[in-house]
Amino acid sequence: MALSFEILEKDIAGRIGRLSDGKKTVKTPALLPVINPHLPIITPREMQDMGVQALITNAYIISRSTEFRERALAEGLHAMLDFDGVIMTDSGSFQLSVYGEVEISNQQTIEFQQAIGSDIIVPLDIPTHPDTGREQVEEELAITLSRLKEANGFANHANHTLAGPVQGGLFEDLREFAGREISEMGLKFCPLGAVVPLMETYRYKDLVRVVMAAKRGLKPGICVHLFGAGHPSMFALAVAMGCDLFDSAAYALYAKAGRYMTTHGSYHLHELSYLPCACQVCSTHTAESLQKSPDKERLLALHNLHVTLAEINRIRQAIKDGVLWELVDERCRGHPQLLRGYRELLTFGEELKQQDRVSKRRFFYRGTESCLRTEVLRYHDMVERFEVGKRALVTFDQKVHSGYDAVFFFKPPFGPYPPELSETFPIGQSEIPDWDNEMVKSGCIGIERLAKANPDTKIIVRCRSIWKNIIESNAPSVEVDLEDL
Ligand code: GUN
Ligand code: ZN
Repeated sequence: MALSFEILEKDIAGRIGRLSDGKKTVKTPALLPVINPHLPIITPREMQDMGVQALITNAYIISRSTEFRERALAEGLHAMLDFDGVIMTDSGSFQLSVYGEVEISNQQTIEFQQAIGSDIIVPLDIPTHPDTGREQVEEELAITLSRLKEANGFANHANHTLAGPVQGGLFEDLREFAGREISEMGLKFCPLGAVVPLMETYRYKDLVRVVMAAKRGLKPGICVHLFGAGHPSMFALAVAMGCDLFDSAAYALYAKAGRYMTTHGSYHLHELSYLPCACQVCSTHTAESLQKSPDKERLLALHNLHVTLAEINRIRQAIKDGVLWELVDERCRGHPQLLRGYRELLTFGEELKQQDRVSKRRFFYRGTESCLRTEVLRYHDMVERFEVGKRALVTFDQKVHSGYDAVFFFKPPFGPYPPELSETFPIGQSEIPDWDNEMVKSGCIGIERLAKANPDTKIIVRCRSIWKNIIESNAPSVEVDLEDL
């Protein structure tokens, strides 16, 4: 059966969802570990016991393998791998991007993936390298889209799901166009392609621009897969943009290179004196005993997969609680390039605001970046709807004053609020440290929005003199009344 995707909860543009064909279900966000059928360092059965509901393997490698080709055709992929969850197969396009050519046609790979009983099949898209010039990107995108149309047309897809990879290099208009074309074809599952070179070189700012562009073109109900994303430090950022699935061999590749993953970066095992994790492997080893173990690679892979899966669960919980921004903020401080990506994402506040939910469990101020969060932008929109009368006061001192048609208290980074909203989100649920200039500036944007929406009202802001300059620069339409003079 083809998979259907249902969105259950949202935060920013991220979602908790359910991908299901009626029998098999994948909770999203999810990680699909890459399985190398030749030597699975962790078996699919073990993975299923760790909570893995879907995995990905390479149909091209299987089709070229004397050992596995006939078995896969005779037994089917699920029996061969001993995994009864969802299996996605990749077409060989990744080999194409690495080796320059593959000996398989679009039709052949689609037919083979169908024949071995894959649940999610991928056509032979062209993963154009991000640094390719526009003309070639356009040509290759046209080929990818025509192969997708071909795949969509010639086969019966009732028993599986056809994935529609979104390509377009670094050209945001092409990514958006590709997203729209693929949506029009009626595809419900879209991987974002050719982003591995961006992630390998920490180009998270470019990654954010490309993903946001593709998402703009894709219909919101489409399940979005980020091809080749496997480091847990970037999952929160990707989920915040609306990516639902990741696939990666990183847990195994890092283990092979002796690298130990954490949510804020990786270590070479020999750099560690202590193991900052309590998984089965880490609680039964020291850094030294792990380093010396003959089973080191497999044990590292188990730890890496554990960390990766735990992060996915943490993200699911953050979405449920509406605290995904705080997790993104935390994770993106693990590397300056991730911080760049996070700051880039904040420039898309106006777009993200439309998708974000109205109420959340809490808002923790975590530094100046928090001033640009969707909750603040949404609040500034809401300010325009407050009743103000002819003369209104915004007071920084939290005391009720008489002689005005309306009195507002002030909570940065949001801005003015009527006392009756003091218990509602975000005013009542926000925790802020001592006021700093940036948050007061953001709050003043709220005051200015109130003033601009009510041009016939006289608005007076009562505050201590230290805030005078910030108010005058950011809320020029109001009068300042100093309370400490
Ligand atoms: N694996 C990583 N990136 C890609 C991509 O762009 N296309 C396909 N088919 N597989 C990938
Ligand atoms: Zn561990």
